[in-house]
Amino acid sequence: MIFVLARGGILRHGWGMTSELSDLFHFLRFPSISTDSRHTGDVRRCAEWLVEKLSSLGLQTQLHETARHPIVVARNEHKPERKTVLIYGHYDVQPVDPLELWHSAPFEPEIRDGKIWCRGATDNKGQMLAHVLGVAKTLREQGDLPVNLIFLFEGEEEIGSPHLAPFLQAHREELRCDVIAVSDTGMVAAGVPTMGYGLRGIACAEVTLRGPKGDLHSGIYGGAVANPATAMARLVASLHDDKGTIQVTGFYDDVRPLQEWEREMWRNISGVSDADFLAVTGSPAVFGEEGYSSAERVWARPTAEVNGIGGGYQGEGSKTVLPAESFAKFSFRLVPDQDPKDILEKVRVHFETHCPAGVSIEIEIGHDGKPYHADPHSAFGKAAQRALSRAFGREPVLIREGGSIPIIQTFREILGVDTLLLGLALPDCQIHAPNENFPVANFEAGILLNQHLLNELALG
Ligand code: BES
Ligand code: ZN
Repeated sequence: MIFVLARGGILRHGWGMTSELSDLFHFLRFPSISTDSRHTGDVRRCAEWLVEKLSSLGLQTQLHETARHPIVVARNEHKPERKTVLIYGHYDVQPVDPLELWHSAPFEPEIRDGKIWCRGATDNKGQMLAHVLGVAKTLREQGDLPVNLIFLFEGEEEIGSPHLAPFLQAHREELRCDVIAVSDTGMVAAGVPTMGYGLRGIACAEVTLRGPKGDLHSGIYGGAVANPATAMARLVASLHDDKGTIQVTGFYDDVRPLQEWEREMWRNISGVSDADFLAVTGSPAVFGEEGYSSAERVWARPTAEVNGIGGGYQGEGSKTVLPAESFAKFSFRLVPDQDPKDILEKVRVHFETHCPAGVSIEIEIGHDGKPYHADPHSAFGKAAQRALSRAFGREPVLIREGGSIPIIQTFREILGVDTLLLGLALPDCQIHAPNENFPVANFEAGILLNQHLLNELALG
């Protein structure tokens, strides 16, 4: 017993750890890394823990198998006169490497400086469990929920939700609802309640350039045949002009222009100035498409990013080699009304026409997801804003998000409903990176937020 408590970090905290925090620590200890097949069993055990937790609240809970990681669905008793709210979250997490940069073990949650440090603390276990425990609190204090509830939790968000859309199709009737709520996005700053009404889409591709049949001596052959690494540098550089504008033909054709009311609203949000972006990123300067603020560039403009690039010698010192091949991994963040498949086709044409002479090109198309945009002032949008004000004691700000949750637009297409994005992540939460963290205060505010949310959504 003592051993478990010590591992959980409770000894640093005395015996005052709430049962909510203890639940979160249990949830966090599962290394539910969805992309890594060595963790398939851990992902399942995490889902099974969730089933137990949800069942213990009196919810009718089911674990649904997929070809990979399970989907967990739970519901209360539905009554015809009540609104139906679906709450979505994901219990899978990103890999932890580079391990050596963590200040504490990635799956041993610890509280330091008022924050919970662990992979998944923010993305998405902390935010997801705030939904669950907000429901538990409501049941405890109000005796019943004011709405019909459906919890839908998946273990494949971080790998592009490959089995969730077919699941939605197959279970459309049971999943019929009036609105969806998700806490898997951000707050502009600590203590500033933030409602998201948009997400960027995403489209991924990988390019390999091949030159000689094997690595060559760069003195004997350099200058006589093309160098695939140089060719890749030229190909990558062809994506933007000097002002940061993307050069793929037709890339901006379907981009919905930013509205003046949004630009005006966003100018008044503190915490997202260029200086704030510099402070949180540590970059020497902001850079991006001309004519837009940093917040506008991230929330409402599309991008082309290199996520990884390589080829040739990577070790210590120098090696005079002319590499046989080079690769680069790309992702494009998209905004309404860009279509990922259309963009990937345009990108393919761009890469083929801009491929430098002397190398061959192979383009592998990866996963994608559509952008999302909703009216923040809908009846449910206003209800969510009231819940945010009540939980945080101040008026929420309304933003779009730079990140992507591909299933959100699919929810609208299959279930026909909008999603309220009630983010609790802070700019310095380090999701997907070493030292991911989630403030205890956000966890607690999230639990309260969910109680207010159910009560406000019940009013419509
Ligand atoms: N929770 C994030 C998305 C997010 C984070 C949105 C912060 C807004 C603000 C989610 O888990 C995620 O990482 N999504 C991926 C997309 C996926 C297809 C790999 C992303 O945005 O890269
Ligand atoms: Zn994520």
